[in-house]
Amino acid sequence: MFFPEYRARRMRRNDNIRRMVRETFLRVDDLIYPMFSAFGENIKKEIPSMPGIYQQSINNIVAEAQEVYDLGIPAVILFGIPEYKDSMGSDAYCDTGIIQETIRAIKKQVPGLTIITDVCMCEYTDHGHCGVIKGEDVDNDETLKLLRAEALSHVQAGADIVAPSDMMDGRIAAIREELDENDFSHIPIMSYSVKYASAYYGPFRDAADSTPQFGDRRSYQMDPANRLEAFREAALDVVECADFLMVKPALAYLDILRDIKERFDLPLVAYNVSGEYSMVKAAAEKGWIDYDRVMMETLTGMKRAGADLVITYHAKDAARILNG
Ligand code: PBG
Ligand code: ZN
Repeated sequence: MFFPEYRARRMRRNDNIRRMVRETFLRVDDLIYPMFSAFGENIKKEIPSMPGIYQQSINNIVAEAQEVYDLGIPAVILFGIPEYKDSMGSDAYCDTGIIQETIRAIKKQVPGLTIITDVCMCEYTDHGHCGVIKGEDVDNDETLKLLRAEALSHVQAGADIVAPSDMMDGRIAAIREELDENDFSHIPIMSYSVKYASAYYGPFRDAADSTPQFGDRRSYQMDPANRLEAFREAALDVVECADFLMVKPALAYLDILRDIKERFDLPLVAYNVSGEYSMVKAAAEKGWIDYDRVMMETLTGMKRAGADLVITYHAKDAARILNG
């Protein structure tokens, strides 16, 4: 294929030809929308760094869940902001906890919407770390006990899929065992397999009030410089029977998405995290970029890199465009 006989531009000449040779598609089916459930009555508090995203009490979150369902988005992922936090994060595995009540309320009003729950301790602990503190660090094996209880409590309340995001070693096997022993062998686990210690989570921590009160998460989340370690993390999750793998964040880690997709055959999720959303929103508010186009290009890029599904705060905006 040489110029001038071969001319690549022939295949880009008009919209029909471009449609015919398009390789990657973002579909509404690919989207998962994150929501923050806050304790209280009639609360709808916008997160300053995440325009359009709210901390909401149950009545309002149910209304938004209906809207998400009506847009054709198959699933939401829920995060809870409890009334009280303590050192053991006890609201996380309490049957009347914020998430448990939220799951029941959504299931009652919008039974067709798939509910994924974030399984982690940081939204529920007063110190803001993702597990039990021993000395200066998070104790892995003690934390596993709480994660088991949290995952079980979520599915007992009606969660369809659990998504552990804590990055403790052995958590997928522990949660799988706990669910199986309690007759929940039909519930899939969406593992945050490859989760980096990222500054892109900043706005989320405002949203979930989950900033660590001391130190940071680098003793359990991955070093952003590492690639081979991502393969080891994903391989462990496969052996432990995860049903979905995830790479998080997405935008600065598209190479990792591609690598994981090529090496593992499980459905792969990209988490288009809070900071990635905030940057696009902020630039659009300044009039510096075209919001719709940058959003669609970014989400399509994640799919092209290898993601089957994308967790994104843009989900409703993207669905509106895709639905035409
Ligand atoms: C909880 C959790 C976090 C995110 C998802 N689950 C925060 C963190 O690990 O600090 C981040 C999501 C986002 O930034 O949008 N561990
Ligand atoms: Zn956490």
